[in-house]
Amino acid sequence: MSVPARTTVAIIGAGPAGLLLARLLQRSGIDSVVLEHRDRAYVEQRQRAGILEQGTIDVLRACGAGERMDREGLPHNGVELRFDRRGHRIDFPSLTGGRAVMVYAQTEMVKDLVALQLAEGGPLLFEARAVAVEGLEAGQPSVRYVHEGREHTLACDFVVGCDGFHGIARAAVPSGVLRTFDREYPFSWLGILADVPPSSDELIYAHSERGFALLSMRTPTVSRLYLQVPNGTDPGDWPDERIWDELDLRFAVDGDWKLERGPITSKSVTPMRSFVTEPMRYGPLFLAGDAAHIVPPTGAKGLNLAVADVVVLARALARWHETGAADLLDAYSDTCLRRVWRAEHFSYFMTTTLHPDPAQSDFDTRLQLSQLHRIADSETAAAELAQNYVGLPFE
Ligand code: APR
Ligand code: PHB
Repeated sequence: MSVPARTTVAIIGAGPAGLLLARLLQRSGIDSVVLEHRDRAYVEQRQRAGILEQGTIDVLRACGAGERMDREGLPHNGVELRFDRRGHRIDFPSLTGGRAVMVYAQTEMVKDLVALQLAEGGPLLFEARAVAVEGLEAGQPSVRYVHEGREHTLACDFVVGCDGFHGIARAAVPSGVLRTFDREYPFSWLGILADVPPSSDELIYAHSERGFALLSMRTPTVSRLYLQVPNGTDPGDWPDERIWDELDLRFAVDGDWKLERGPITSKSVTPMRSFVTEPMRYGPLFLAGDAAHIVPPTGAKGLNLAVADVVVLARALARWHETGAADLLDAYSDTCLRRVWRAEHFSYFMTTTLHPDPAQSDFDTRLQLSQLHRIADSETAAAELAQNYVGLPFE
């Protein structure tokens, strides 16, 4: 593939943010080049989140990337909160004016977007590592990158850092310009994939004094389950039987529910953190997705926030392209951060309500249970959870 030396929008990173942005820009007649450090197989196989908000579903359909999602994704109209040995269902459509979510793995969404980009879109380079973002102050932005052993420079009008938490784009902003907000949690998630049909049609978020557990799924025959574990946990210390036994204890409920076991095909430990960068722009450089913010996974907001960022940015760039007006570009950071902070709060709330902190007292546990009872008993409290979970509508 011949790669131009100049493009309108240089996109660093081919995760969900970078790939969807390239797709949306192309639909507005704006050219872009996507530079991705890893190879295609790595990007397509990485295990990540699996819940698409209503707004994410709508955007994928509208840009022609929703066909396989609509065939293979699993629409979900609710979740179960489980605590004190009882389950409580939160019904999304009745509490949100008809909105819901879809179980469709992030890696499947990435595969769909990669295939579309390669077939119909502008250049998408794998194994192309961005090493520097330059010319921001001079108003002549460019990205230096290494591809097939050689260094190249891509000149552009805008650079978008969709390069995740550990990317280089955020670091290209001079020190003192960005303010960051950070919180770490004293626990991690041990996540497994298992070849067994999910033991529940809907997700189960379980609070227990032994720790949090989550039952999720990828397909009708593949379960995805998570256990709260101490930071620094080695998955090697968790043989399969130990994982299933612990899940049994944390999901224990009065009645005849049973957790079905099956072969575990993957195990990994993910730490939890909250992180926000303000502003999400420096001159012609924009940050989107994990490059700008991280949420703990409880509530499944990470992927959906990345999608919301690039929807706002694509609209702003389309307006600039059509009319020359920069007003939406100027509003990008503020527009995104309002949604980001709402999702930060929701993810923090879900995390701290459902996970016992190893240092917490019985008083703290009683407060968590009181909050969970309130959600189970009050339509107002349940609606607040449901509306955040399915995602606030895009403006
Ligand atoms: N040059 C090129 N590509 C890079 C560089 C670099 N210097 N640094 C990082 N990348 C690539 C990574 O290899 C990765 O493919 O940027 C991509 C970032 O993708 P994600 O980490 O998936 O981030 P994002 O697209 O913002 O997606 C949001 O939602 O479920 C959550 O955290 C989860 O991935 C998820 C995210
Ligand atoms: C997942 O299926 O990976 C998942 C689901 C819900 C969450 C987090 C992760 O809150």
